[in-house]
Amino acid sequence: MTSFKQIKLKINFVVGSLFYTRYALKSYLYSRQRDASARYFKRPPTKEAFDNPGKLLQAESTSRGANFYFEQTELEVCFLTPNLVRIEWKGGLSPVPYAIARHDWQEVETKLKQTGDRWTVSTAALQVIVTVDGSLTFCDASGQTLREELPPQRKDYGWIHRASLRQEECIYGLGERSFGLNLRQAKDKQQKPHAFRMWNYDAAGMYGVGSDPMYICIPIYMSLHSAGSYLIFYENSFEATFTFVENAVADFEGGALRYYFTAGSPAQLLERYTELTGRPPLPPRWALGYHQSHWGYLFEDVVRAEAKEFQARNLPLSAIHLDIDCQVGFRAFTIDPLRFPNLASFTRELRELGVQFIAINNPGIKCSRESNLFLEGQVLDGFCKYPDGQLVTAPVWPGWCVFPDFTHPKVRNWWSRQYQYLLDAGVAGFWHDMNEPAAFVSWGDRSLPKETRHDLDGRGGEHREAHNIYGLLQARAAYESLRQYCPHQRPFIVSRAGWAGLQRYSWTWTGDINSDWSMLRTTISTVVGLGLSGIPYSGSDIGGFQGNPSAELYLRWFQMATFHTFYRTHSSNNVANRTPWYYGEPYLSIMREFLQLRYRLMPYFYTLAWWASQKGYPPVRPVFWADSQDAALWNVDDAFLLGDALLVCPVLESGARMPTAQLRLTRHAILPKGYWYNFWDDTLLEGGQQVDLAAPLERIPLLVKAGSIIPMEENKQLILHVYPSVEGNAKNIPDSRLPTPHSLYSDAGDGYGEWRLDRFGMVRDENGLELSWETQGDYAFPYQKVRVHLHGIKLQQVWVDGTELACQGQQIECDPFHQMRLNFLLADTSKTQN
Ligand code: NOJ
Repeated sequence: MTSFKQIKLKINFVVGSLFYTRYALKSYLYSRQRDASARYFKRPPTKEAFDNPGKLLQAESTSRGANFYFEQTELEVCFLTPNLVRIEWKGGLSPVPYAIARHDWQEVETKLKQTGDRWTVSTAALQVIVTVDGSLTFCDASGQTLREELPPQRKDYGWIHRASLRQEECIYGLGERSFGLNLRQAKDKQQKPHAFRMWNYDAAGMYGVGSDPMYICIPIYMSLHSAGSYLIFYENSFEATFTFVENAVADFEGGALRYYFTAGSPAQLLERYTELTGRPPLPPRWALGYHQSHWGYLFEDVVRAEAKEFQARNLPLSAIHLDIDCQVGFRAFTIDPLRFPNLASFTRELRELGVQFIAINNPGIKCSRESNLFLEGQVLDGFCKYPDGQLVTAPVWPGWCVFPDFTHPKVRNWWSRQYQYLLDAGVAGFWHDMNEPAAFVSWGDRSLPKETRHDLDGRGGEHREAHNIYGLLQARAAYESLRQYCPHQRPFIVSRAGWAGLQRYSWTWTGDINSDWSMLRTTISTVVGLGLSGIPYSGSDIGGFQGNPSAELYLRWFQMATFHTFYRTHSSNNVANRTPWYYGEPYLSIMREFLQLRYRLMPYFYTLAWWASQKGYPPVRPVFWADSQDAALWNVDDAFLLGDALLVCPVLESGARMPTAQLRLTRHAILPKGYWYNFWDDTLLEGGQQVDLAAPLERIPLLVKAGSIIPMEENKQLILHVYPSVEGNAKNIPDSRLPTPHSLYSDAGDGYGEWRLDRFGMVRDENGLELSWETQGDYAFPYQKVRVHLHGIKLQQVWVDGTELACQGQQIECDPFHQMRLNFLLADTSKTQN
């Protein structure tokens, strides 16, 4: 790096770091105030505690299951579908159902049967066995035990709930976590099993491997063991601690013990969970492109120059994100008219370059009589207060702030209205930051006092309960606003904090992550874990937020992020503005290739987004999704699947650490069963084994499952990349439950107009392949031509709807067809690497 660049970096660092000193006194005063409030408004103990529910006295069947009456409490077993059951132990505050999207469930046929001291409530798919002491067993239809729960324990305001874990059982989810994928293996600094906290948290300044909690905590987990897999979601937003040792223990500080159980393959679990908490709507297509961001775009000219530089260097770009420095005094819903003098024409100018303008928005509102928002919110009585009616104030970027109570419907409505003028000025979407909600502190919790009162849609309650849903409800207000004011556009919102159901409104990113190799690796688990918690759209600040990555780290991060749904570079105000050209060649050219690959893959990404909106499957999936019965895959967390077809193995180590320090690295990978083609050279690999794959600087290992068709696009052509199965379809799909037909979803890319779904069939026989093509929907075919590209086997002859066409090497150009016959030159099929 040139010495000029180094000096600039140092100045950046000093100036950026000094920025924080202005908040020191306020942070100190607030921390004292928060602690004093905790002492003053201390909760009295309750008399509700019991160690166990006592003996079962009576059971009665209900229309959806059964009720059980114990000495100390009651239990309700309520089936919502044959495979989804809600369990509720009575006692504690019932939740306001912010997480729940569906309330109208069809009838379910259930049976209640007594055998000795056990009662079984069953449907065609599940059995719940209730024992006289209050322990529960969940079995599948064949009677196979999936989960065994101990009798619950009621503590003062909350509950402790335990379930035994099998030795081999793996646990995934809990929202956003900074550990390896299998949470059962997570250790704290003393190498003891980690206790996961449920309390959305601004992880700024300390976020490395093992930081906990993080911005999005959701009490949901998926379990895999030798007898099957299941998912548990606790509908309880109170602070909690989860541990997974011999038992899975969920320890809630308040609220009811209401939870949902479902069993099946990972795909079935996500389908059921998102039926309950909502599916992620289809995003605008541009959102799946590349986004550029930096905390430091102060002026319109800087943003314009950035967008033009992307264009000049032939680097596709879909959006630029503006951080708090575009605002007036960092205040919500402002954009400084002195530095952005004509926002509407500027956003238009950017849109002409194909770039959308995304504005930041934080919930804290500056306490100032010069702020309309502050005055309006006061008139509405819409800000959070202490139990004695005093306004809660805490320092955030604008200075002393008040906080809208998003649990009040009128406050959500008022907040929704604020987006309108920015939308009118062409702002295409918003990123919600600091919405845990975060407050600056010198010590202790970085949020509002736990005693803070909230409306909770009329029921009333404390911040203890409202904290984890604060970001969710801000996202809901924004989503409703964007739907109302721009009814022909699909909302684009990115929220740092959230809870169960966030996927209905918003995407997320993994926050202020350190720029180091360990965090590149952990990002894979964080993003996959979010997907398994129902949130399919997420990504990290490419290269890390805090710190200046080496050119190699930035490149490797960029390569990985090319296959994540949210593809954005962002960085802090005390580091360099990181762009693909910042490090010069060869990095720039390699990043250009990856950017272009991402845009070529757009039909595949968009189709995966459509599947997510229909079924809740996250596009980015754990490797075990390919075959959840193969225990060898349960702990693989250095790779991920993009859809069912692509296996992505990011490079997670610096080449400088390799003995030869050469560019050619190899990357170890575990392949699921079946056959896999190397994306870069079409070599065929047999799965169910560990392999070493070449990973020179310009590539990361990328494998394609044999038997896949990947739709890609280039110059208005649709290119169907066909990767034939090896020994007939059946042998190549180890987990036949995967409901992922070869498909291509298309529409106008935004809005709510017509659509089409093209479905492809592929059958291999001894001499070649039969492809078939069927279409549903009215949207006109959006490509000028189709190219079919056969991989892995030499193409000899092709017939399209009965007419022979000339092949161009491995490709055929044609119009949409019904049937295509591809004959192979069979002598060439022996390219397998073992
Ligand atoms: C914290 C966010 O996580 C980060 O992305 C942003 O740049 C800063 N706040 C400043 O707004």
